[in-house]
Parts: sequence; structure tokens; C-alpha cells
Amino acid sequence: MTFPDTELIEKLLQLKRQRKAVILAHNYQLGEVQDIADFVGDSLELSQKAAETDAEVIVFCGVHFMAETASILCPDKVVLLPDIHAGCPMADMVTAESLRKRKRELPDAIVVCYVNSSAEVKAESDVCCTSANAVKVIESLEGKEILFVPDQYLGHYVSTKTGREMHLWPGFCPVHVRIQPGDIARLKREYPRAKAIVHPECRPEVVALADEVLSTGGMCRFAPKTEAEAIIVGTEIGIIYRLRKENPGKKFIPASEQAICPDMKLITLEKILWSLEEMAFEVKVPEAIRLRAKVAVDKMLRVV
Ligand code: 13P
Ligand code: SF4
Repeated sequence: MTFPDTELIEKLLQLKRQRKAVILAHNYQLGEVQDIADFVGDSLELSQKAAETDAEVIVFCGVHFMAETASILCPDKVVLLPDIHAGCPMADMVTAESLRKRKRELPDAIVVCYVNSSAEVKAESDVCCTSANAVKVIESLEGKEILFVPDQYLGHYVSTKTGREMHLWPGFCPVHVRIQPGDIARLKREYPRAKAIVHPECRPEVVALADEVLSTGGMCRFAPKTEAEAIIVGTEIGIIYRLRKENPGKKFIPASEQAICPDMKLITLEKILWSLEEMAFEVKVPEAIRLRAKVAVDKMLRVV
């Protein structure tokens, strides 16, 4: 067991106060990062927090598209990503150029982009969604032809929930595809009274075996409410730390120990301290792109 570096943490928190900064952390962040954050949540909750904070600096402990979303919503604040290499391989599976090409092939389609996408892609889209509100966003687009980018599995899940056919971009999360239906089936045999909760980025065969399909924020709300004492968790394993901390009486079983997002793990306490010291790495979306991307993000926030 490693002990937290109290000196480092004290320095970091003092500098945070001096800089009038807020630290936002995604549910997949390392435990020690979650512990020093002002708020820990899913993509939707973090963008809502960013939009409403009166802090001057936002230190985003997550991946690049999340910091960009904060920059889209808060152009007057300094948004820092403690490691500029923390990206999202799924977000990189669609570029603005490739999307423009597909839009020419489907001129009547409304483009719905998962928040796991670049600001340039959001600027090419009509409305954004996260895993927490994707069903509601699609339901709000009654009667329209839809192109959903970039996650084919979230798109497929939403399509089955809403009965809407959609054109699906062939993107996927390389972390969530590691969770296999056999993992859930084996754990269900081992823990017959457990509930299985999975993220909609999982393959459809995994989703089909789940008791609940939830965003990471939804998982954190579900855990204390369910009567089940054991829960099989089909998402990135960083969330297990928060689930155990908030529900000490319950057992949380990762569906796959291999579901680790290396990008999320790039953020460390040392890098957060350096980030506040150097005011780096600033993520700032150029104004012309920001204004177009904001239309799609604002539309999503109105649907929630
Ligand atoms: P949530 O919005 O559910 O937190 O998911 C974000 C993500 O990147 C999942 O891989
Ligand atoms: Fe992207 Fe997957 Fe990592 Fe989420 S878990 S940030 S979708 S690579």
C-alpha cells in the first residue's frame, strides 16, 4: 500500500486556493486524484460543473475532449489539462474532415455527436450527447434521419432503446471492448445474487447480459439504492475506487481487470501540482470553432 504524499497534497491545495482554481475529476481517475478533487463525476456532470463554477481556473483531471468541453462552455476561464497527452482514442476515430464527407453523403441527416469527440467534430454536429442523456437527446429529434458519431455501440444501444434507426459511425472504445460477454456470464455464475451494471460503450452482447446500462454517474447513484449487496461493474476499473469508498458495505466486482484506460491514468498528483505551478497545459478552443461547437453542447444541456 502506498501512502499519500501529504506535503505534496498540501502544496497543491494551497496553490489551488491561490490560483482560485477548481479541480474536476472524472470517475475513472486514480483514487488519490479523486480524493483531492472538488468534484468527481461523469462527463455530463463535469460539463455542468464547469459551466456553473465561479473559479478562475479549471484543472480538468480527465481526457482532452473533456477539457475542451469546459473551454467551449467557459471561454473566460483558464482550463488546464495536467497531461496534454491524455486523449481518447475513440474521439480520434472521427475527424471534422471525415465527418464533412459523410454529411455530404447524408445531406438530410441530423448529426448527433457523443461528447467523446473533438471540438472540431462538435462544430460539425447539430447536437451533442453523453452516455447519461443520449436516449433523451435522440427522443427529442422525432422523425428526423440521424447520423450518430463516433461510438457505434452507444449508438446501437440508444437505437434499441428508442426504436430509432440511425446511421452509426464505426468508432468504439478500445477499453470497453475488452469486456467480453463471457466475463459477465462467468461472474454471474460465481455471484448469482449480484446485479450486473454496464456502460453503454460495451459491446451489444455484453449489454444484453446486464441488469442495468448506465453512465458512470448513473452507476454511482445506482449502487447505494439497489438491494443487491454485490455488483458486477462493466466499465473502466477506476470507478471501483469511488464505488467502494461511498458504499463500504457492498462488494464491487470489476467485469474485467483489463478494462483500464491508460489515458485516464496519465493524470497524477505530481502533474496536477506542476499544472498549477506552470499554468499548463492550457486547453483553449479557437473562438470560431468554439461558437459552432457551443450550439451543439448547449442544445444537449437544454435537453437534460
Ligand atoms: P461517462 O460520461 O459515463 O462518465 O463516460 C465517459 C467515458 O469516457 C466512458 O468511457
Ligand atoms: Fe475514451 Fe474509452 Fe478512455 Fe473513455 S474509457 S476516455 S471512451 S478510451
